[in-house]
Amino acid sequence: MSYQYLIVERPADGVALVRLNRPRQYNALNLQVLTELAHAFQTLDNDESVRAIVLTGNDKAFAAGADIKEMLEKRPHEMKNAPFISGWDAVALARKPVIAAVSGYALGGGAELAWACDIIIASETAVFGQPEINLGIIPGAGGTQRLARTVGKYLTMEIVLNDRRLTAEEAARFGLVNHVYPVDTYLEEAIKLAAKIATRAPLAVQYAKEAVLYAYEAPLQAGLQHERLLFYTLFSTEDQKEGMQAFIEKRAPRWHGR
Ligand code: HXC
Repeated sequence: MSYQYLIVERPADGVALVRLNRPRQYNALNLQVLTELAHAFQTLDNDESVRAIVLTGNDKAFAAGADIKEMLEKRPHEMKNAPFISGWDAVALARKPVIAAVSGYALGGGAELAWACDIIIASETAVFGQPEINLGIIPGAGGTQRLARTVGKYLTMEIVLNDRRLTAEEAARFGLVNHVYPVDTYLEEAIKLAAKIATRAPLAVQYAKEAVLYAYEAPLQAGLQHERLLFYTLFSTEDQKEGMQAFIEKRAPRWHGR
């Protein structure tokens, strides 16, 4: 896959690494970046050899948000009809686990890209924020909803109403970031984590992700029911038989993804 603003690599078995690569604009997300992101994620999600995806920027910026210069003259229908939102959607809707490796600025739509991922690894320099209010707009790719569901109403209000920025340490303390590492190692750590997840039973990983995300959608009873159905369904897979047999035989399981 070759793109103007993305670099896609395969740094470890089963792992795809997607780097945003528009460094002079702090990886500002213009329509071209977002279109490429949607294409890359849809392609990798459908690639059986990919078991986990890492999304990153560079050490100075994960992404400083949607491209303000490009948005300036837009009308509502142009925003709505352009394949603009598809970038965030493709990340959020991936069936494979997605790990964000964030360093430097993760602002506006850049932060929302991280919130759309399943696990967030940050460098010590990461700064998260939703500064849209300074531009006379609000977050439009999930910021208000995903933040409120994760950190609650009050902190979210401060972040979106008053551009409160969070350091990596604060974001970790509030449950938005899984781990914080030095800038020299955060990406390597994210890839290591992805590589470990990539060794696990693929269908179980996929169903586990689906079940967790369903907690955002449904009341508890419906969520429990959904979890149970996915749980029962896994008993139709070869991997369930293999995983349990391997445990009994005291050996490592060999997953086939079926
Ligand atoms: C377009 C951007 C940009 C952005 C940075 N640049 N962020 N261009 N859109 N979001 C460009 C600058 O214009 C500049 O280009 C170059 O990158 C370097 O930026 P500087 O501002 O000169 O650098 P610095 O002083 O170091 O400040 C870095 C920064 C700042 C703190 C990240 O650039 C900043 O505040 N950016 C905007 C952050 C923001 O408001 N994001 C939310 C966007 S709205 P030139 O050509 O002038 O050198 C959004 C809505 C999401 O995301 C909606 C989802 C549906």
